[in-house]
Amino acid sequence: MKLINASLLILTLAAPALTQSCSQMSPDVTSPAGNIQLSFSVHDGRPFYMVRSDGEVVIDTSYVGISMKNGQIGRNTEIVGYNTSSADTVWETVWGEEQFIRDHYNQLRVNLREKGDNGPIEYAMVFRVYDDGLGFRYEIPAQAGLDSITILDELTEFNIASNPETWGIDWKNAYYEALYHPRNLAELDTASTPVTMKVSDSLYIALHEAALTDYASLNVHPTTPGSTRLKAFLTPWSTGEKVFASVPLNTPWRTLTITKTPAQLMLSRIMLNLNEPCALEDVSWIEPGRYIGIWWGMHLRDYTWLAGPKHGATTENTRRYIDFAADHGYQGVLVEGWNKGWEGYNRGVGDEFSFTEPYPDYDLEGLAEYARSKGVRLIAHHETCADAAHYEAQMDSAFALCERLGINAAKTGYVGQLIDRRERHGSQYGVRHYRKVIEHAAKHHVMIDNHEPVMPTGLQRTYPNLMTQEGVRGQEWDAWSADGGNPPEHTVTIPFTRGLAGPMDFTPGTFNYTNHANPATRPRTTIAKQLALALVLYSPLQMSSDKIENYEGHPGLEFISSCPTTWAETIIPEAEIGRYVTMARKDRNSDDWYLASITGKDGHELSLPLDFLEAGAKYKARVFADGKDAHYDTNPYPLDVYDLDVDNRSVLNLQLAPGGGAAVIIKKL
Ligand code: NOJ
Repeated sequence: MKLINASLLILTLAAPALTQSCSQMSPDVTSPAGNIQLSFSVHDGRPFYMVRSDGEVVIDTSYVGISMKNGQIGRNTEIVGYNTSSADTVWETVWGEEQFIRDHYNQLRVNLREKGDNGPIEYAMVFRVYDDGLGFRYEIPAQAGLDSITILDELTEFNIASNPETWGIDWKNAYYEALYHPRNLAELDTASTPVTMKVSDSLYIALHEAALTDYASLNVHPTTPGSTRLKAFLTPWSTGEKVFASVPLNTPWRTLTITKTPAQLMLSRIMLNLNEPCALEDVSWIEPGRYIGIWWGMHLRDYTWLAGPKHGATTENTRRYIDFAADHGYQGVLVEGWNKGWEGYNRGVGDEFSFTEPYPDYDLEGLAEYARSKGVRLIAHHETCADAAHYEAQMDSAFALCERLGINAAKTGYVGQLIDRRERHGSQYGVRHYRKVIEHAAKHHVMIDNHEPVMPTGLQRTYPNLMTQEGVRGQEWDAWSADGGNPPEHTVTIPFTRGLAGPMDFTPGTFNYTNHANPATRPRTTIAKQLALALVLYSPLQMSSDKIENYEGHPGLEFISSCPTTWAETIIPEAEIGRYVTMARKDRNSDDWYLASITGKDGHELSLPLDFLEAGAKYKARVFADGKDAHYDTNPYPLDVYDLDVDNRSVLNLQLAPGGGAAVIIKKL
């Protein structure tokens, strides 16, 4: 990622005067366009912030502070000075939903002193105010008498000035694989972020965090039951503490995205902007792309991970998948169950796994060579059953093996309620482990697809080999969930909730809904929606989920096998949380556009002006649309494929079936 241009203006001032005997205020800071306004004050020793959007208070008096073993900040604080600054830069992504991202904000840094029972503590609050929201963090510099910090509680509040419709999931859900049920904010229990709120038809707020590298993940809960004043609740260690840190300490950024439309929530890049720039010097080996996998068969119980009569990861089967990938333009083949140790998987035991030794019926070296000869990469699979320490002991040799065999991506997995039987995935312990894996993988030129992760916070800007993560109730639930599969509104909700945290490895692309093991469970979508999900649910490594025999000769294969996974530009002409999303993306490597629309349980009429196309240019659009009488529940299979001549004055008219979708390839002629 390159910095394209930079401008910075800094103004430093001494402590503001006390306005009354017990209040101090720093100057308000507005966003570059002036629509978002941040105020910060200290009253009776307690620091707080407020946020206005177009003059209206959206975040009311919200106190900040941190409770530590050796004292508390935010109880007896005074402002000792402040400075304001501005930046307007553009950086280039290695991959992503757009090639260039503008980072344009006004910043307020307030230097504070906590009187403290055991002596003063210096700290600062730093706010970056954007036109679509803000981020802020605590900075505790190195200082005499404060070497290490044990955080017992982060006291940050988000006092929402209304009782909006809210989407969030219970923080106890170990891997965030849950359905989002909208409710009023006052009814929210403790929820992991992102938490998404609809205040009105023209005001949306999403609360999350950025740059979680060595801290505990953020959850929020009402300060008292029924209140809309939320407070941070950090995922604790098993011993109850939240964070062990040394100074200087910069916390992750707390982000509040504040927009007029739900589409703008999805297009906000505050989280990425608040992460550190790329830490890798050479990124030439990082290759976004599409892959298939020996995978769905296991979830349907047609294959086993374990070696035996139904073993999926055999040499012969993998060769079939490699051939198919080569014939249909897929870059990779994921093979699960290739390595020794799956005997323990059903018992939840990960310490029997070897990440370097294949089962005897899997010729790892020969297959890697065969794949290379056909221009395809094997993708490694490292399921750990959450035995992270066992994995850490082997990961360097595992990644070195990948590097030697030309395997440039690994899917990691942490099935197990607690990491190393003790700590939560979102705890500081988990956060440290996941980051270590990314860093070690990068040394060996291996990209990571992290399943059962901590909720993403934009680290892919710093480590662009962190390609994609699960942390979502994905397509696999359509194979075995007791509730019959993901309901149609799920996939029109997650783009506005979990999707705000970054790429999702949802793995759409199932074409055959036969399920012998669980006949009542299957994707609750039409086939056209399966195609459209491959574009809407962004993932730079995107797996088409189905078994290859279900793709052979299918007209929908053309879309999912050719749709790019890195873009020059993304636009979202229409979107409504839980109802529909329509998105168009311009390919980063050609002048072609790809368009997709998905709907929830109700049908949706699409009438879309193609005015984003280049004026004067001619295009051929290949449309993959719901066929006659298609319906996610009663008739999921009808798919129509046809061509249209279009230009930037054309209007695309399509009727999406209930639970349906549409996908369109628009090629410039
Ligand atoms: C759960 C993962 O999400 C899934 O993709 C994988 O197949 C299994 N664990 C086994 O690792």
